[in-house]
Amino acid sequence: MSKKFQAMRGTRDILPGEVEKWQTVEKVAAMISERYGYREIRTPHFEATDLFARGVGETTDVVQKEMYTFPDRKGRSLTLRPEGTAGVVRAVIEAGLAKPDRLHKLWYWGPMFRYDRPQAGRYRQFYQWGAEVIGTANPWADVEIIVLLAEYLEELGLTDLVIKLNSVGDATCRPIYQKKVREALASRRDELCPDCRERLEKNPLRVLDCKVPGCREIVKGVPSVLDSLCEDCREHLDEVKKGLDASGLTYEMDPGLVRGLDYYTRTAFEIHHGKLGAQSAVGGGGRYDGLFKILGGPEVPAVGFSMGVERVLIALQEEGRDVFHQTPLVYLARGANLSDEAFRLARELRRRFAIQLEYAEKSLGAQLRQADRLGATAVLILGEDEMAAGEITVKDLKSGDQRRMPRADLQDELARLLSEPAASRSHT
Ligand code: HAM
Repeated sequence: MSKKFQAMRGTRDILPGEVEKWQTVEKVAAMISERYGYREIRTPHFEATDLFARGVGETTDVVQKEMYTFPDRKGRSLTLRPEGTAGVVRAVIEAGLAKPDRLHKLWYWGPMFRYDRPQAGRYRQFYQWGAEVIGTANPWADVEIIVLLAEYLEELGLTDLVIKLNSVGDATCRPIYQKKVREALASRRDELCPDCRERLEKNPLRVLDCKVPGCREIVKGVPSVLDSLCEDCREHLDEVKKGLDASGLTYEMDPGLVRGLDYYTRTAFEIHHGKLGAQSAVGGGGRYDGLFKILGGPEVPAVGFSMGVERVLIALQEEGRDVFHQTPLVYLARGANLSDEAFRLARELRRRFAIQLEYAEKSLGAQLRQADRLGATAVLILGEDEMAAGEITVKDLKSGDQRRMPRADLQDELARLLSEPAASRSHT
């Protein structure tokens, strides 16, 4: 017997029936991005490994354990993008658009790849929607980024959400805080996991992000980053908080929020959903004022977020929100020897409506059963009688009403039938 193939662990097929939900959440993301003045950017799905090693950070779990890295045929080390920000920054620098006084507001949508242990809400190929404001250090940009994500989740109808906010400091105050973390953990060094013992030397903030239960317990005793912020970072945070208040968003301060990527400065935030279990972050982001420099560009401040699409879809399901939108389908049934006429009519109607018909001739009964199976909203019947009289029968499958009418009236009748509430649900 020949081998049966399966989708690789941590990847999923999105089949018709589910794909309409994906189309809807993507459409809403594009619409809201544009309403907020962001323009779409598309970058490659793989990049030089070094881009992520330097951009995301050598000591992060993403770089150390989760990257899909492989040599290409010329021996160059490539990596499937684990996130979108590093690629966007590279693209902006490469295009010569990275200038301190030029503002770019960009959004993207697409698959990301992380070799992590799959579980509910965690996949090896997953989709993100992301947005980045490049070229300003103004705290209102941080506010807009958080508001944009919150607005989207609200627009989809999600309610069980918590915004968590923190500041991770900058080049002035971070070293002082890192020293405090090292000192606070020095006496318990041997109780930390082997990774954390190394992190304590190289990048102590990473210890605060460790998932090992023993380490999580130990870091509870570490002083809060909020008590170590320099004057500028403190002021920036206060402005962001004021902006969020003014925007009517409620949030929680979470000094333990350090994020899994190293490029953050000042603002760090996440939005969590109450019914997602262990993987509860639907999205997160923050400010990354140092990343352009790290990736070989000029000094350009920036802030952004990414959101996990699968997690949003799970959250919608958990809250019983129906975002299913399928174009209402019309089934065209025909009598014997009327294929020419039926296909001609279908072509005409398909300029406005979704029309389904059989390739092969079948009995009327078989065609009606198929219309039912496909979930059609209406059936058109073109039989010999109708053909001779220049008419057509229209059957509303929701109400069961059936009417014969002149062919000339058909398009108006379909427009009326399909625009009724049951057939024209919006995205929520
Ligand atoms: P991140 O927190 O690593 O940030 O990922 C953002 C979101 O992607 C997470 O909150 C989660 O919803 C989703 N996500 C992450 N990993 C997985 C996975 N294995 N399976 C399913 N969903 C996942 C970033 O990626 C940054 N680039 C965000 C950013 C943009 N910061 C500044 N600009």
